[in-house]
Amino acid sequence: DTGRGTVDRLLRTLATTVFGPPAVTESNTSIESVLQEQRVFQPPAEMAAAARIGSLESYRAMAAAATKDPDGFWGEAARRELHWFEPFHTVLDWSEPPFARWFEGGTTNLSYNCLDRHLEGAKAEKTALIWEGEPGDVRRFSYRELHAEVCKAANALKAMGIGKGDLVALYMPMIPEAAIAMLACARIGAPHSVVFGGFSAEALRDRLKDGEAKAVITADGGFRKDKPVSLKPAVDAALAEGACPSVTGVLVVQRTKQPVEMVAGRDQWWHDLVDAQGSDCPAEPMASEDRLFVLYTSGSTGKPKGVVHTTAGYNLWAHLTFQWIFDIRDNDVYWCTADVGWITGHSYIVYGPLSNGATTVMYEGAPRPSKPGAFWELIQKHGITIFYTAPTAIRAFMKSGRQVPDQFDMSSLRLLGTVGEPINPEAWMWYRDVIGGNRCPIVDTWWQTETGGVMISPLPGATPTKPGSATLPLPGIQADIVDGEGNSCGPDEGGYLAVRAPWPGMMRTVHGNPQRFRESYWEHIRPADGSYLYFAGDGARRDADGYFWVMGRVDDVINVSGHRLGTMEIESALVSHPAVAEAAVVGRPDDLKGEGIVAFVTLESGRESSDDLIKQLRAHVGTEIGPIARPDEIRCSDALPKTRSGKIMRRILRALAAGQEVSGDTSTLEDRSVLDRLRA
Ligand code: WTA
Repeated sequence: DTGRGTVDRLLRTLATTVFGPPAVTESNTSIESVLQEQRVFQPPAEMAAAARIGSLESYRAMAAAATKDPDGFWGEAARRELHWFEPFHTVLDWSEPPFARWFEGGTTNLSYNCLDRHLEGAKAEKTALIWEGEPGDVRRFSYRELHAEVCKAANALKAMGIGKGDLVALYMPMIPEAAIAMLACARIGAPHSVVFGGFSAEALRDRLKDGEAKAVITADGGFRKDKPVSLKPAVDAALAEGACPSVTGVLVVQRTKQPVEMVAGRDQWWHDLVDAQGSDCPAEPMASEDRLFVLYTSGSTGKPKGVVHTTAGYNLWAHLTFQWIFDIRDNDVYWCTADVGWITGHSYIVYGPLSNGATTVMYEGAPRPSKPGAFWELIQKHGITIFYTAPTAIRAFMKSGRQVPDQFDMSSLRLLGTVGEPINPEAWMWYRDVIGGNRCPIVDTWWQTETGGVMISPLPGATPTKPGSATLPLPGIQADIVDGEGNSCGPDEGGYLAVRAPWPGMMRTVHGNPQRFRESYWEHIRPADGSYLYFAGDGARRDADGYFWVMGRVDDVINVSGHRLGTMEIESALVSHPAVAEAAVVGRPDDLKGEGIVAFVTLESGRESSDDLIKQLRAHVGTEIGPIARPDEIRCSDALPKTRSGKIMRRILRALAAGQEVSGDTSTLEDRSVLDRLRA
């Protein structure tokens, strides 16, 4: 179901439903749909003058140099930007594609690059991390202080019997200890696996088992929307009845002071164990290709896959991209609103900023009815200069009106960013005008968990921007739009977004399943010349200026408020309920969330659909995966549209879910009356 026809249909649907035609309101009478978007915004002259990459010509020269001599380009960057205990002897070993080995022979340490190397001179006293809790409590750490905390946590892990190569799972709220724990793991060479705190106990257990985690770091809970939310009970449930025998210890941060059960011999409080440790713990020299972390993400088939990133390549890519995209300055105060449970939190709250010696802000909360201006207040209070968030958040702010942000002084801002989903031109323009005061460039950054860092994005001092376009690939990234055979598409022709050459931040494999890595990303499209091409799973087009316009997923992955979910996972969750015989899940365009979740289910015979059952089914998905995966709508029917070979025709369901005419070929439908009944 990922043929060329699907891409074209998808692009058409997205163009008309997600992106336009825009509602004509007072604020956007001049706005046209993304397909006709003509506006171009030049980088501000002062920014261009001061930037590392200050013109389109310099960008093009850099990109050309990287294409001509990739080894020279990456090798020089790695030597310049990272600290090495031992230098590498080979930049890239691509002798067994698609398995890449970068910077072989070298040893380095991510925690060292983020902390120790900033301790010489004045940078030691610079603020590394500003954290604000939802109740308004603030904690600040200088580089020296953060280093000491990380060393203590690293020593605590050692005291728990954790060593090089042991996987440590993190299931945490947005508190400084989350970043400290990640850096502590990296310091001793224990790969981490951060599990988003919004996932259920079931989802946590799957990830603990798949990764054979040896320890879990968690908290009693965190504050969310003005109330404490618990975490520790989910860990207890995940570990119950010996479900995860590999886990020998649990370290618990006290955040909310909710009562928790502590299992003797397994659970310890952070404030008992970590605070008692010494603040010296030398960073372990790690081989470039040593596993750094595993992060689970949804694919189009089966269970979430553990995306594996390794030490040097990931560090270099998080570092370089952060430096380029935000053109970071010593006095910047940078804030990314993501959660550390997602790749954006890894690369752009923790590792990218700290590796560059920047000041990064972390916020526990979210805008909420009691504090709709929470974000803008934070910007005003901390003098934030760079703000990086998701289109779904921008659309929600837009809906509640400019009178909220207008109450705050946001003149400290100089640069804005977006990530996670396509941004519609209306939201882009609102962001630029209302939040950025028509002064700050917007960097729309396209990338994925698998890519480690941003791949396509404007450079604020160099790239003219167009609302809704992620613009151009970063230097060294051979991004292309291709057809099913790997041929480049022409201008404005829809196709698959692909990458033609390896890059340092690329994922190395799927944890425990190299075959799945090969099949999911490298075997969908095999160019005739036998070269390997990375298939991202997104549909996109490139305009006559070479600008990329990313449209969304072409596989069975849906993007709900910037959260990536596999339709298969939700289907499995639904059919695990005793009332459900069969389920098919599709996305439908949603003004606020990008996509909403619609589930079509057939019930076991004898079961009747009722409001109560629908409620139960939604709750069941919440328990199996997490609240973010609960369908917006569940439709019960007596049958699903299938081909004669029994394949569910999702394209038909997508159209029905979106309330559109079912177009295209329906002749392969086994039973055409199903369609009529579904319509009814
Ligand atoms: C989507 C998040 C359009 C895309 C960093 C991708 C985007 C998926 C953009 C990865 C963007 C991310 N414009 N779409 N700027 N950024 N996406 O792994 O569909 O959670 O494949 O990584 O998000 O989601 P993931």
